[in-house]
Amino acid sequence: MIALPKPNFKAIAPSILSANQLILGEQIRTVETLGASWLHIDIMDGHFVPNLSFGPATVKWIDKVTALAQDVHLMVEEPQKYLDAFIKAGASSLTLHVESKGNLKELLKQIKSAGLSAGVSIKPDTNPQDLKQFLDIIDLVLVMTVYPGFGGQAFLQSAPKQIREVKEIIKDRPIWLEVDGGINKDTVKTAKENGADAFVAGNALFGAADIKQAYKDLKDAIN
Ligand code: DX5
Ligand code: ZN
Repeated sequence: MIALPKPNFKAIAPSILSANQLILGEQIRTVETLGASWLHIDIMDGHFVPNLSFGPATVKWIDKVTALAQDVHLMVEEPQKYLDAFIKAGASSLTLHVESKGNLKELLKQIKSAGLSAGVSIKPDTNPQDLKQFLDIIDLVLVMTVYPGFGGQAFLQSAPKQIREVKEIIKDRPIWLEVDGGINKDTVKTAKENGADAFVAGNALFGAADIKQAYKDLKDAIN
């Protein structure tokens, strides 16, 4: 298992949701060579969001082909059902939604005691204040800048305010403020200016005609 680094730089996290699943290993090697900070892995159960994606087996196989950490985003109704499987599979970090079911504090502690990084995520309509109770445990906050479920959506107009509010809550604690959804070379700048320091990008990278150029554009926009 590869750990997530500490938040002292601006990170780019390619989301494999938009990658060509038939050549996933190749696509991962491409973003690794380009300098990606870690991989973002979206897990969907068809209940918490109206879509399906990957499971623990995908994480296990990815772990064998890359030195990149895997930031696993659990868009599932009952995360406690799957924690052990993702821990065993080699996830580096597990992010739970505050809107999901269960004793989230306990689950976050379980993640931490297994040696992983722990994160919490909020949907666009969730009050950022809900994050406060988890600040002592977590390594990462994931702010959804689209309604979760699908890649390729547009960055929401309400997102900058949400990011700012989360930044005000995190302050200078060593917690990543990661944004997820609709990130491209323009919105990445807005997200950064409002306090984000890690940027998930799916469609902007894997949907690009020239992924090398697309990666460079993102990188240039945040540096
Ligand atoms: C959406 C997922 C995102 C998705 C982002 O529910 O959580 O991680 O892959 O995709 P883009 O960058 O295409 O908006
Ligand atoms: Zn995600």
